[in-house]
Order: sequence, then structure tokens, then C-alpha cells
Amino acid sequence: MNAEMKGKVCIVTGANGGIGKATAAALAQRGATVILACRDQARGEAAKNEIISATGNSDIQVMRVDLANQESIREMVTRFYAIRNRLDVLVNTAAVFKAQRTTTPDGLETMFAVNHLGVFRLTNLLLDTLTASAPSRVLVATAPSTVQLDFDDLQGAQKFRPLWAFGASKMCNLLFTYELARRLEGTGVTVNAVHPGLVKSNLMREAPPMMRWVTQLVSSRPEKPAAALARLASSPEVAGVTGKFFKDGQEIESSPYSHDRNAQRRLWDTSVALTDRTRPI
Ligand SMILES: NC(=O)c1ccc[n+]([C@@H]2O[C@H](COP(=O)([O-])OP(=O)(O)OC[C@H]3O[C@@H](n4cnc5c(N)ncnc54)[C@H](OP(=O)(O)O)[C@@H]3O)[C@@H](O)[C@H]2O)c1
Repeated sequence: MNAEMKGKVCIVTGANGGIGKATAAALAQRGATVILACRDQARGEAAKNEIISATGNSDIQVMRVDLANQESIREMVTRFYAIRNRLDVLVNTAAVFKAQRTTTPDGLETMFAVNHLGVFRLTNLLLDTLTASAPSRVLVATAPSTVQLDFDDLQGAQKFRPLWAFGASKMCNLLFTYELARRLEGTGVTVNAVHPGLVKSNLMREAPPMMRWVTQLVSSRPEKPAAALARLASSPEVAGVTGKFFKDGQEIESSPYSHDRNAQRRLWDTSVALTDRTRPI
């Protein structure tokens, strides 16, 4: 462990496995305080123990959150505010792929709810502390999706195609990142999207076997994108850089549609309407 991020508080979602766990370990290796936001306490504790023994950093904590459940997100944020008074880095890596259309306790299509609304809700609820702790950084793991959203059927109620719906949720991540970055200009909070590349993980466990087999063949280990994510979370070289899309630490282009400000604004407004209306965002 080194002291590069000593005193910095980081939250990593989906930190019990895949890219999230490797990123949490990379931040812990840099001496940060790391909060593992996981939906299963036992899996979170197992990841925590692994990270502590690999890095020697014991300043690791598990906080349970189910991103499919808006009340669970609110509860986690309330617990976070009760014990921490700063947040320097939020890394949104949690995501899910579903082969069938399923809905969450809030009645929302699961991929849209977890992969987009979960990120939207959690990040917005943490904005007060991110702003108060500025300079601070938000990272959103996504993919170079080219899907154009169907705002008349955003949750696939009329026509559900799993890969399209997953791609749409990753497009939401891009649209959200660019919109939020613009909204936070001048606050010292930067917001960037990150493509980890093809990585061996459990994410596509419900995908067709042939597709899984081929992608596993060409996928790398999560430690590689995790190192890039940890650099983006800490490096002075990217201080102040916001509203960009990165892969392997280099800026890359996302599809022209992801830069469509009307789509960004429409998604934002729709997301506000679909998340808890009792607290202003
Ligand atoms: N792997 C790739 O090739 C690839 C490529 C491009 C982009 N990405 C992006 O990289 C990110 C990480 O992917 P990964 O490959 O590391 O996936 P992964 O191994 O499946 O990890 C996903 C994490 O999200 C958590 N999660 C799922 N549903 C949740 C919920 N409702 N509440 C809280 N946590 C939940 C999972 O927890 P459980 O263990 O409890 O399920 C797991 O910890 C994703 O955003 C993905 O879209 C990955």
C-alpha cells in the first residue's frame, strides 16, 4: 500500500466482484478509505477481507445497497451521511444483464433501473457531499454503445430485446455523464465515463453460451481496467477533466447520439420523474 490517496474517501458500487472489486482494491492499494457498496453483505465482506489481505489497507467498509430498489439507495446514502462527512470519489461500476424482461420492486425494467436509474439516483443523492469535498470525481463504467433510446418505450414494455435493452442502459450512462458534467461545471466535481474494454466477469452470465464463450476468449482480467479507473480517480493529470469518455486511460470518442443534448436533457427529466419524487434532486 502507498499513501497516494491517504485521507480520500471513495465509494465503489458493485465492489464484490469483477471490475468493481478490482477497482476497490486498486484504490485501497493507493491508501484510500474505500466503501464497498454491494447488494449482498456476505459477498461484500468476503471482498473486503480479500482486499485487506492483498493491500494491507484495513480502512475498508461494506455498505449494503440494492440499486434495483430506490428506497435501498436512499437508506444507504442516509447511513453514509451518518458516518462520513466527505466523499472524494464515486465509482459506479455495478450493472446487470437480464436475458428476460424482469421488473424491480419499484416496477421498473431491471437493466434500466439498475444500470441507469441506480447510477442516476445514487450519484444525485451524493452530490451535496461530492460538491462540499471538491475537487472530487465521479466515474461511470459503461461501454461504447450506439443504441438510440426509444423514449416511447424506454423500459421495453412493448418490445423487449435483451441486448438492445442492455445497450440502451449503457447509452443512458453516456448521456447521463455528459449532462451531469455540464450541470456541475464550475463546482470542482468532475464526471467522466469509462469503457473498461472486454473483461472476464460474471456480467453476461445470462447471455447466449456462444456469445459468452467468444467474449471470454478475447477478454482481459479486471485488474487492467481497474488500474485505469484508479488512475482516473486519483491522477493529477486528469484533475479538472470532465465530460469525457476514457478507455485505458486515453480519451476516446462515443457515438454522435450520446452528445445529443436534447436526448441528454430528456433522459434527465424522465429519470427525475421516475425516481423518488419526495426529495428534490
Ligand atoms: N465485463 C466487460 O467486458 C465490460 C465491458 C464494457 C463495460 N463493462 C461495464 O463495467 C461495469 C462492471 O462490469 P463487470 O464486468 O465487472 O460486471 P460483474 O462482474 O457482473 O459485476 C457487476 C457488479 O454489480 C453488482 N450488482 C448487480 N446488480 C446490482 C444491484 N441491484 N445492486 C447493487 N449491485 C448490483 C453485482 O453484484 P452481485 O455479485 O451481487 O450480482 C456485481 O458486484 C458494468 O457497468 C459494465 O457494464 C463491462
